[in-house]
Amino acid sequence: MASLFQYLLCMVLLQLPLFISAQTYNNITLGSSISNLDEKPYWTSRSGDFAFGFHPHHKDFFLLAIWYAKIPVKTIVWTANDGKPVERGAKIQLTSNGVLSLTTSNGTEIWKAEAIDNSQVAYAAILDTGNFVLSTAESKFVWATFDNPTDTILPNQVLDLGNKLSSRLTKDDYTVGRFEFVLLGDGNLVFYTIARPTEKRNEPYWASGTVDSGTQLEFNQSGYIYLTLKSGGIRSLSSERPVSTEEYYQRATLDYDGVFRQYTYPKSSPTNGWPESWSTFWSLPQDICTSSFGEFGSGVCGFNSYCKLDKDQRPECLCPPGYSFIDPDNSFKGCKPNFVQQLQSAAVEEMTAG
Ligand SMILES: *[C@@H]1O[C@H](CO)[C@@H](O)[C@H](O)[C@H]1NC(C)=O
Ligand SMILES: *[C@@H]1O[C@H](CO)[C@@H](O)[C@H](O)[C@H]1NC(C)=O
Ligand SMILES: *[C@@H]1O[C@H](CO)[C@@H](O)[C@H](O)[C@H]1NC(C)=O
Repeated sequence: MASLFQYLLCMVLLQLPLFISAQTYNNITLGSSISNLDEKPYWTSRSGDFAFGFHPHHKDFFLLAIWYAKIPVKTIVWTANDGKPVERGAKIQLTSNGVLSLTTSNGTEIWKAEAIDNSQVAYAAILDTGNFVLSTAESKFVWATFDNPTDTILPNQVLDLGNKLSSRLTKDDYTVGRFEFVLLGDGNLVFYTIARPTEKRNEPYWASGTVDSGTQLEFNQSGYIYLTLKSGGIRSLSSERPVSTEEYYQRATLDYDGVFRQYTYPKSSPTNGWPESWSTFWSLPQDICTSSFGEFGSGVCGFNSYCKLDKDQRPECLCPPGYSFIDPDNSFKGCKPNFVQQLQSAAVEEMTAG
């Protein structure tokens, strides 16, 4: 008898942690936290399509991010902390008073998200749409990554007037880059370059021309992206008919080259294996190389450089003869004349000689 009882007790104890984790799997309860030192430093949506948590970045750095959890291609759709990586020992916590707080290993808070209207947050969740939300007990979302996008929008997501996407700096640097895609307060949807370090917007390099008529940018559940208009109509950004959102993941990203692209990727492995990258479905503007950046804009490739579309219709930045890249790791930063460099190195040689 005793052994049967022990056996049953043991079974109950073994099942208990599983039961608890199954519950917190979807609802992230107050007081929950994850550290990037944990074996599984993220929470996944119910379907397992999306993860929210610490994504390994490079060396000992992590990004607090949302990404596709089932596919082999690394694809981050949202980042916290302005895309700045955090070191080992960082922690994300939903505090007992409902604040989502990112702290470093010494406990310093470096980023947080909280209810927009002082509502009491009851739980957080990463939804199957890829939206991470803070919710009240009545399931009213009082903060959502869908309302605070970085460079990407997903099906079921809406950009309201005044909201924007900002490109990341380079392919692997998620901090803020030079390009913005903004639905202005007047209803016009525009692309800008940002002048650094003044942060001023240059003249738009594309505009929808919907001043006083645009109301929202919608990426609907069927994969269509369009502006809704005051008249009740819509203005599509592309005439293409999207593939099924049941079979394909879809996202639209303002890429670091200033082009807004809608992408697709199969949800399950095709018989010939997973594709190595996402397929571009359509893009805007169609030729960024010939887009006008106005009097003060330097163009997509930066100063002293020129731009050519490669075979994938992506801009490639090149330096004219006698010039070289300012930053060899980022061809979008522009070019500088070689002779300045020679003069400088001559001066350095002189200094070291003297
Ligand atoms: C905590 O760590 C951060 C870097 O992660 C550092 O900038 C900060 O000065 C540290 N603060 C304290 C109180 O040690
Ligand atoms: C999550 O929490 C809300 C509010 O407390 C509750 O209504 C909902 O049923 C919970 N969902 C799960 C899967 O536990
Ligand atoms: C998405 O928008 C397209 C174009 O307006 C429309 O035909 C389709 O029915 C919409 N899908 C959903 C789920 O609303």
